[in-house]
Amino acid sequence: MRFSLWSLLVGLGSVAVVWGQSSTADSFFATESPIAKSGLLANIGSSGSKSDGAKSGVVIASPSSNPDYRFTWTRDSALVFQAIIDQYTLGLDTTLRSQIDAYVAAQAVQQQVSNPSGSVSSGGLGEPKFNIDLSAFTGAWGRPQRDGPALRANALITWANFLLSQKNTTYVTNTLWPIIKLDLDYVSANWGQSTFDLWEEVNSSGSFFTTAVQHRSLRQGITLATTIGQTSVVSGYTTQAANVLCFLQTYWNSAGFITANMGGGRSGKDSNTVLASIHTFDPAAGCDAVTFQPCSDRALSNLVQYVAAFRTIYTVNSGTTASQGAATGRYPEDGYMGGNPWYLSTLAVAEQLYDSLIVWSKQGKITVTATSQPFFAIFSPGIATGDYASTTATFTTLTAAIKTYADGFVAVVAKYTPSGGGLAEQFSRSTGVPVSAVDLTWSYASVLTAFNARSGVSPASWGAASVTLPSSCSSTGGGSPGGGSSGGSTVAITFNEQATTTFGENIFLTGSIDALANWSPDNALALSSANYPTWSITVNIPAGTTFQYKFIRKFNGKITWESDPNRQLTAPASGTFTENDSWR
Ligand code: NOJ
Ligand code: NOJ
Repeated sequence: MRFSLWSLLVGLGSVAVVWGQSSTADSFFATESPIAKSGLLANIGSSGSKSDGAKSGVVIASPSSNPDYRFTWTRDSALVFQAIIDQYTLGLDTTLRSQIDAYVAAQAVQQQVSNPSGSVSSGGLGEPKFNIDLSAFTGAWGRPQRDGPALRANALITWANFLLSQKNTTYVTNTLWPIIKLDLDYVSANWGQSTFDLWEEVNSSGSFFTTAVQHRSLRQGITLATTIGQTSVVSGYTTQAANVLCFLQTYWNSAGFITANMGGGRSGKDSNTVLASIHTFDPAAGCDAVTFQPCSDRALSNLVQYVAAFRTIYTVNSGTTASQGAATGRYPEDGYMGGNPWYLSTLAVAEQLYDSLIVWSKQGKITVTATSQPFFAIFSPGIATGDYASTTATFTTLTAAIKTYADGFVAVVAKYTPSGGGLAEQFSRSTGVPVSAVDLTWSYASVLTAFNARSGVSPASWGAASVTLPSSCSSTGGGSPGGGSSGGSTVAITFNEQATTTFGENIFLTGSIDALANWSPDNALALSSANYPTWSITVNIPAGTTFQYKFIRKFNGKITWESDPNRQLTAPASGTFTENDSWR
């Protein structure tokens, strides 16, 4: 890289205030990246120094015997190899080829191992973990976990696409495709079945991370199949990809965050959702909200609420303010090994923000919507909705502040990384000392992916840019977040409200049913002002339901209701509906 003296000075000027955090992040990654790389490779059989007993290409989750993590999880392994494959295919490390070949061979074997979830053709691909000699693990466990096959397909398709670019079609068609096809057939047939979440605890009709990575796998699979002439799967995968995408929308809730699971009796705020966003990042998809891209208004609103859930519960976060990094964990109610912050969860927040910075700079603007306003307001209180081009001072201020914010999460991880650089699974919520499994392979992978994102290196696209939400979505939702399946179908109702507002004032909707936040002004749904003075929102409402509602104005914390009486509407039995109102 070459820098002019001028750009160096400008660079120093813009980070001067925050020199502390950025330099901490710089030095953390400089020191930790090589440690993470070798820590990760040490846990891969058969040559890894800490992987005793693991077959070639098998990733042990951690060498820890207490808790005992000397097993291979399909999820952890796929995420680790996604990181390795990205390193190799992006030209960052050309020494990893033999590990990738060994992983492919190991997965081909593992897929065929009959296990408590079934055989290869009867559900066995949903088995979450195996012994490290690739025999079945037969103890009690939260099974099935249906994210594994999708994550493995995503990693292997990334690999296949690279090999195709090298004209190695034969290997892709004869060796990779049969493995990938088994996983995609499983996803296509089973995405709607109940599953344990990635934390192996909640069994429900859906988990956001699982649904999101399943959607990505089918889209990438369709393109790969088409490219190599395996067209028989295309129509089936295309139908199911559209259904999965519809289902994905139903996790978004009216309080402005993604409910992680379709059940489970928790707040729903969960690292699950942040991990989903970074592992379905597509640098060509802009800030698309339908696929919950890292810089989408939904994913940013979700990030605010997810991070806030940990600020007050962990002692290590005490004294931090909303614009500073914090330690975050799986979900606030977590009690596993004391319920502590996780290295990989905290780094995932930073990664989502670095991914966002990549896209904002690429598209030359930041768009603030009513949904993302609370995120941007952390850095620019009272910021108005609208577009801020990269030529504006606001863009410069925001991107600098968000980079600092992201670096703050890295600084937290740096602070609680012991000398020597070993990364466990968790660090104590009260003292910050490492807790639970040592040398967690996934923790090391999360350092590599966050570092890439911070360096402006993005993974290959998976086709999110050409995804559109089917208009028939409204009736295919699988359930209601947090409360198990709702049983009935919903219809998408678009509410348009004509209202002139003053700068900083926004329009919200609430009403008599769950979908409208049960008359809660705090949880009222924010309307978009994209077509100002028409404010709009589309809400999925149970078909045939009669309900009452009103619009409200919020301005500097002050709430103004529309005049009485309440408005009333009956949702049609099917299809979609548009309701046009004006402020009264
Ligand atoms: C082990 C699982 O791996 C972990 O995710 C879970 O929290 C604990 N069991 C407790 O159920
Ligand atoms: C527990 C985590 O909850 C789960 O996601 C992971 O797969 C296993 N540990 C192994 O690392």
